Amino acid sequence: MQQTFLMIKPDAVRRGLIGQILSRFESKGFRMVAGKFMVISEELAKKHYHEHEGMPYYHDLITFMTSGPVFAMVWEGENIVNLARLMMGPTDPERATPGTIRGDFATLVNRNVIHGSDSIENAEREIHLFFSDSERINK
Ligand code: RTP
Ligand code: MG
Repeated sequence: MQQTFLMIKPDAVRRGLIGQILSRFESKGFRMVAGKFMVISEELAKKHYHEHEGMPYYHDLITFMTSGPVFAMVWEGENIVNLARLMMGPTDPERATPGTIRGDFATLVNRNVIHGSDSIENAEREIHLFFSDSERINK
């Protein structure tokens, strides 16, 4: 069974969208196995988004992601890495079709409400960046 790392970003937390977003993954048949409501440090934000260092949007991305609480989670299910990305829609909400999370809840690329791992390798890396093994429920 695959696991992925999902994170409700500060814009969505501020707007009170946690419940609506989580219910989509629950309805799909996926299972939350870890969750943490937290403000991420600059150091953690930089590790998480290390691939984007040097990009024009990098500074705003780090400032935004540390600007308020996020809800960081591990979810489990068949083919969840790909399916969660499909449910989220493309990075830029302008290209996200209605019915996807970004298509329904976001308008701006730098305020796109949710993060999801983009590969099995990155899911592994991100899960371990945010959670210890004992924090993942296996019952
Ligand atoms: P995320 O990692 O947050 O789930 O988003 P993603 O995979 O769909 O997109 P990614 O390429 O990993 O970009 C990470 C975040 O950087 C911001 N971004 N802004 N202004 C821009 O052109 C631009 N490109 C990326 C977005 O907030 C994106 O979620
Ligand atoms: Mg990404």
